[in-house]
Amino acid sequence: MIPEPAPTVRELLAFYLEAGVDCALAEESIDRLAEADAPPPAPRAAPPVEAPRPVAAPAVIRGEVAPAPEVAIASAREAARTAPTLEALRELMQSFEGCALKHTATRLVFADGNPQARIMFVGEAPGRDEDIEGLPFVGRSGKLLDLMIGAIGLNRSTAYIANVIPWRPPGNRTPTPQETQICLPFIQRQIELVNPDVLVTLGNPSTQTLLSTREGIMRTRGRWFDYNTGARTIRALPTFHPAYLLRSPSYKRLAWQDLRAIARVMAGAN
Ligand code: URA
Repeated sequence: MIPEPAPTVRELLAFYLEAGVDCALAEESIDRLAEADAPPPAPRAAPPVEAPRPVAAPAVIRGEVAPAPEVAIASAREAARTAPTLEALRELMQSFEGCALKHTATRLVFADGNPQARIMFVGEAPGRDEDIEGLPFVGRSGKLLDLMIGAIGLNRSTAYIANVIPWRPPGNRTPTPQETQICLPFIQRQIELVNPDVLVTLGNPSTQTLLSTREGIMRTRGRWFDYNTGARTIRALPTFHPAYLLRSPSYKRLAWQDLRAIARVMAGAN
């Protein structure tokens, strides 16, 4: 049998791109084979015996190995709970080390728009353009979102926009359930601090995560839900994610119905 010729660099790069690898994660490549020869870490010294202390969420420390998901979730809850303002929340998230996505993303994508807005839109996770700019919904789907909200007289100075996950998953892969649960306390606190009258969840992942439903977007879109911010109950409406509408433009008709329902509620009509 004649051996296959070795792939060219161009073919290898095309293969990586196809597989979703579209960015370098570090300046220097890592020799994983050499890592296998590294000596195992020294065993930890046994901790001194102490009187039991009140249970607090374990802090997730910079530079330590990734914490177990329950530890990261508890730490995110504790951090989010203590953030008194949006700026404090952003700073806590910048220094939070419990979500592995932070290490592959370029930067935190916290929010865009007006924190005083009466309406808040929440998507799933930043993509490549958002990761570069540090702002949510600035790529193709963001352009469509701007048109959608513009059609009911809103823009980024009258609306607030964020994502459930604030770091871009590598290659735009779907965030894992653990990653979503780790990030959930942060977006919940962000909603509480913005305190909008109306919350719009964009697409299935955001809807299912924030509104605790397992129903799909075809069933949930256009239906009003109650959302408890922790301080009060507000109205929440799921609608299609703009990226979905770019792929399936025939659903724009239903999205328009949802937008008109939002406009009516914002005007105090029902
Ligand atoms: N898709 C999202 O869900 N959020 C963004 O910010 C961009 C694309």
